[in-house]
Amino acid sequence: MTLLIDNIGELSTQHLAGEASLGSGGAAGVIRGAAVVLEGERIAWVGRSSSAPAADERYDAGGRAVLPGWVDSHSHLVFAGDRTAEFEARMAGQAYAAGGIGVTTAATRAASDGELRRLLAARVAEAVAGGTTYLETKTGYGLDVENERRSAVLAGEVADEVTYLGAHLVPAGADPEAYTELVCGEMLEAVRPHVRWADVFCDRGAFTEDQSRRVLLACRDAGLGLRVHGNQLGRGPGVRLAVEVGAASVDHVNFVDDADLEALAGTWEGWAAAGSPGGAGVVATAGTVATVLPACDLSTRAPLAPARALLDAGVQIAIASNCNPGTSYTSSMNFCVATAVLQMGLSVQEAVRAATFGGALALRRNAGEDADGKRAVGSVAVGHRADLHVLDAPSATHLAYRPGMPLTHAVWRAGTRVR
Ligand code: NIG
Repeated sequence: MTLLIDNIGELSTQHLAGEASLGSGGAAGVIRGAAVVLEGERIAWVGRSSSAPAADERYDAGGRAVLPGWVDSHSHLVFAGDRTAEFEARMAGQAYAAGGIGVTTAATRAASDGELRRLLAARVAEAVAGGTTYLETKTGYGLDVENERRSAVLAGEVADEVTYLGAHLVPAGADPEAYTELVCGEMLEAVRPHVRWADVFCDRGAFTEDQSRRVLLACRDAGLGLRVHGNQLGRGPGVRLAVEVGAASVDHVNFVDDADLEALAGTWEGWAAAGSPGGAGVVATAGTVATVLPACDLSTRAPLAPARALLDAGVQIAIASNCNPGTSYTSSMNFCVATAVLQMGLSVQEAVRAATFGGALALRRNAGEDADGKRAVGSVAVGHRADLHVLDAPSATHLAYRPGMPLTHAVWRAGTRVR
C-alpha cells in the first residue's frame, strides 16, 4: 500500500544530502510545494508535488508544514507518584536537588506492574499526540536489582530505545561504593538483555567522577552504548567524562566551560553531517551529542543550557523533553522547540533539526539501517522510517511564533497514522 501526502506548504526534510537535488526553498533541507510517498513503514519518494508519482491513496496536506516526527532522546517515563509539593517549594525559591529521586523511587517500587503499564501507556500516548514518533526512556526509579529489571522490561514494551540508569541516585541508607558495585555487577547483568544504552547521573549529590567512570566502563564492556547526565547542577567532570568514554550523548550541559566546549567540538572534527542511506560510517564516526533540555531548565529555574554557543563551537546538539516527575513534567517537544528558539537563541530550523535529526544522532539512528534492522529516523529521505508530523500551520516558524498553541495536526509513525 502506498500513500501520497501532497500539497505540503513547507517540508522540512532535515536530510541535507538530498537538498541540492531536490531544489531547496532557501533554508537547508526545506522544500516548498512538496510531496512524500509512504510505502508500508518506509518513505518511498520525496520531492515536489508537481512531479509526484501516483499512489494507492492520497492525503492532501492543505498547504500545511510537514516535519519529521520528533525524536525525543531523553525521558524518564517509568514512574509512579507525583512531586507537586517539591515543585511548589521550588517556585517559592528552593533549589532543585537530586534527593527527590528517592521520593519517586519509593512510589515506583510500591506500584504494581499493571499500574506502571497504565501510567506508561498514557504518557506515551500524550507524547505521540504531540508529534513524537521515536522515544527513548530510562530506568532509574527502581534502584534495586528487581525494580531496575522490571522498569527496563516495562519500558521496552512501549519505547523505541531503553536506557539503564541504575546510577541515578544512591538509595537512602545504601553505601555509595557498595551500590556502585551493584550497578556494575548483579544489577547490570539483570537489566542487560532489556536495554541498548547505559547512563549515569554524574553530578553533585549523585555519582562522583570515579564512580561514574566505573559504571560507564562496566556497561561499555557489557556491550551497551553510553550516555551521561552531566553538568546539570554545577561545573564538573560530566562532559569530559562523556567524551573520554565515547558516549553518544551528554545531557543537560547547563554549566559548561571553554574546555568542555572544546572537548565536545573535538569529537565532531571531520564528521560529515550529510548521512546517506546505508551510511554506517556516519554512525561510527559521530561524536558526543550535547542534549539540551529546555523544559527542565525552566522548571528548575536553572541557567539555560548554552545551545547557541555549543552550535557555534561546532557541536551537534539535540533537544529532548526529559519528561520526568521531578524536573520536567512535560513531553511536549513543540514546547521545547519553541523555548529553544525564544530563550536559547536558536533559529527555528536549528531547533527543529535538534529535535529531529539531532535526537536521532544522539541515539545513533540517523542513517542507514542498523544491525538490528531499525530504519533511520529524524529526517525525511527515501528508505527512512515514515515518521511525519503535520502542523496546523503553513511553516515550522509557527512553533515559536504561536507558542503553546495546539499545532500538531496529524502524525504518522512507521507509516501508520497515529493522530
Ligand atoms: O534528568 N538529573 C537527573 N535526573 C532527572 C531528574 C530526576 C528527578 O528529579 O526525579 C533529570 O532531570
